[in-house]
Amino acid sequence: MLPTGVTFPYRRHENQTGGPLHRLTNLETERLVGEPVEERHRAAAIELFGDPRVAAWIWPGEFDGPRSEAQADEILERFRAHWADHGFGWWWLRERATDELVGEVGLQWTTIEGAAMVEVGWTLFPRSWGHGFATEGARAALEFGFEGAGLESIVALTLEENHASRRVMERLAMVFERPCIHAGFPHVLYRCERQPPPIAV
Ligand SMILES: CC(C)(COP(=O)(O)OP(=O)(O)OC[C@H]1O[C@@H](n2cnc3c(N)ncnc32)[C@H](O)[C@@H]1OP(=O)(O)O)[C@@H](O)C(=O)NCCC(=O)NCCS
Repeated sequence: MLPTGVTFPYRRHENQTGGPLHRLTNLETERLVGEPVEERHRAAAIELFGDPRVAAWIWPGEFDGPRSEAQADEILERFRAHWADHGFGWWWLRERATDELVGEVGLQWTTIEGAAMVEVGWTLFPRSWGHGFATEGARAALEFGFEGAGLESIVALTLEENHASRRVMERLAMVFERPCIHAGFPHVLYRCERQPPPIAV
């Protein structure tokens, strides 16, 4: 059973016909296209999750840093299953100008201090940091979550000292909610809510 707060995905598209299927799941921004994670992204996933500069922020301390190929495969499988189960998940971001993959953004169900929530997340190749891609991709993911998947509230979570990630949350106008312990580490929790529709006058 789906946790509460989720309605049938792609609600916004229900009455649209004739468009290619990818229109329902891809993200489109000025500089980026987001493609749902699939098997064909395996090599990129192995590179991204095996990079110690990236892994240090996702699997700190005893979580053991860079992932092996087998662990990257498990992540890929988990991401594919999340799409199948919930109608949203992680996207690979491709830069339009170069056709290169720059990293991932995603929406996923997670449990934070015992409560089920949907979080937005981001992980980019170090060569792609500092161009605003995480913010641009995540903004589109949030829009998908609210408008496409019908979510009411989305959180973001990061290690207390991950200033780059906190900055992305602030640029997305997410609001700091509270510190929390997640996976045994001090984290910070930010949140944004679906905007109410404008009042008709
Ligand atoms: C976090 C991450 C996705 C940010 O990607 P990005 O594309 O560089 O982010 P953006 O360019 O959209 O914005 C980054 C902001 O953080 C700032 N920033 C970058 N590094 C920073 C640092 N070490 N300390 C403080 N701010 C920093 C940038 O200046 C920018 O803010 P500004 O526009 O006000 O100058 C990227 O650094 C990353 O993949 N890190 C490793 C994995 C990770 O931490 N994932 C998140 C786990 S919760």
